[in-house]
Amino acid sequence: MTKSANTMWGGRFAAGPDAIMEAINASIGFDKRLAAQDIAGSQAHAAMLAACGIISDKDADAIGEGLITVLSEIQAGEFSFSTALEDIHMNVEARLRELIGEPAGRLHTARSRNDQVAVDFRLWVRDQCDAVDASLAALCKALVAQAEAGADWIMPGFTHLQTAQPVTWGHHMLAYVEMFARDRSRFADARKRMNTSPLGAAALAGTSFPIDREMTAKALGFDRPMSNSLDAVSDRDFALEFLAASSICAMHLSRLAEELVIWSSAQFRFVKMSDKWSTGSSIMPQKRNPDAAELIRAKIGRIFGANVALMTVMKGLPLTYSKDMQEDKEQVFDAADNLLLALAAMTGMVTDMAAQKDALHSAASSGFSTATDLADWLVRKLNLPFRDAHHVTGTLVALAEKKGCDLSDLTLDEMQKTHSGIQSDIFDVLGVENSVASRTSFGGTAPARVREQVAHWNEVL
Ligand code: ARG
Repeated sequence: MTKSANTMWGGRFAAGPDAIMEAINASIGFDKRLAAQDIAGSQAHAAMLAACGIISDKDADAIGEGLITVLSEIQAGEFSFSTALEDIHMNVEARLRELIGEPAGRLHTARSRNDQVAVDFRLWVRDQCDAVDASLAALCKALVAQAEAGADWIMPGFTHLQTAQPVTWGHHMLAYVEMFARDRSRFADARKRMNTSPLGAAALAGTSFPIDREMTAKALGFDRPMSNSLDAVSDRDFALEFLAASSICAMHLSRLAEELVIWSSAQFRFVKMSDKWSTGSSIMPQKRNPDAAELIRAKIGRIFGANVALMTVMKGLPLTYSKDMQEDKEQVFDAADNLLLALAAMTGMVTDMAAQKDALHSAASSGFSTATDLADWLVRKLNLPFRDAHHVTGTLVALAEKKGCDLSDLTLDEMQKTHSGIQSDIFDVLGVENSVASRTSFGGTAPARVREQVAHWNEVL
């Protein structure tokens, strides 16, 4: 027996789709997440149709009330979604027809699923920008709290993951605040650009009905209607910008996650992760694994993947709408879900982790981390050219290395054999406290500078 044709568009069809066609065509399995946005869009559209005299007030009222019922059924989990009805748009409309009868058929006047889905998805992505922004703000607050507590805790700063110069814990935490603050501004920027309404572009060419696109744009919180109907139905830049901003943010999360993995290892012991964010091993009783950090580091792959996948879907599509574009949603849903989860987990880990002040300090004091300070002393006190000072310092580092001691353990006599001008006050600069305290240039690691930045961020956040 052949299935009957779709009641929404089946006027010219004698038979229904093959079961596999239905399976590949349907999006209801995932686009049901757009139900609230779809209904908000329909409410704005129906009110506008009535205000413009395109449908009667009575019909608009019936539609408006019916849509409220549909939404409450969906929210209560009492709605039965049908694959035969393809997507959220037709599922909602079909239920509306069951509830209110004939006026439901007037809702789709001067509209197409092409502008409808573009509106729904934009509204959804816009909400995600707000959710991500709130999550990023929470993460920044947690990082600033760490920075405030440890503004003068000394740790090694690294380049090439080799000890470079001593820095402060607070300075390191605030480096991530800078990154996540840039992420916030990227999402805010994308949100601003996406906040224009495609509704009323209809299928692709606009409509002959006297609609008011300003009215629906305003009702849905958009700044204005999009100016070109072809662009309005075929644009997915808003989703791509969300994914691009998400990818950069995810990359930042992954770098921090990687540091937490390294820092919590037995070889480093820079931080102790809270039990709340660690797991044990079923065979090795001593283990305390930083699984949350590892999963954050890994989840980034799906977010990058979503970005590439949607770019690939969109590339080469002729204007305007093609069904390819139905493949936009799952990527964005998955990326948004995982980004929000990763942000929440990172915020929890950062809040609950305990920096190991003593371990940080002793790591900072080894590895000749104050060699640059020594070279700077030679420049400042003996007026040596920096290149020469670098060479003298290198000789002293080699000597200390040979003796198996730190620079500060060399005797004045040994130093003077390398350069006769060296005086005993050189030992002042070899301590890590003096080293960090001296780095007061703007943006530098000195505790005084860190405290200024902490105050700045406490105000901004
Ligand atoms: N489910 C579709 C999507 O997500 C809605 C738009 C359908 N438009 C069409 N011309 N078939 O893209």
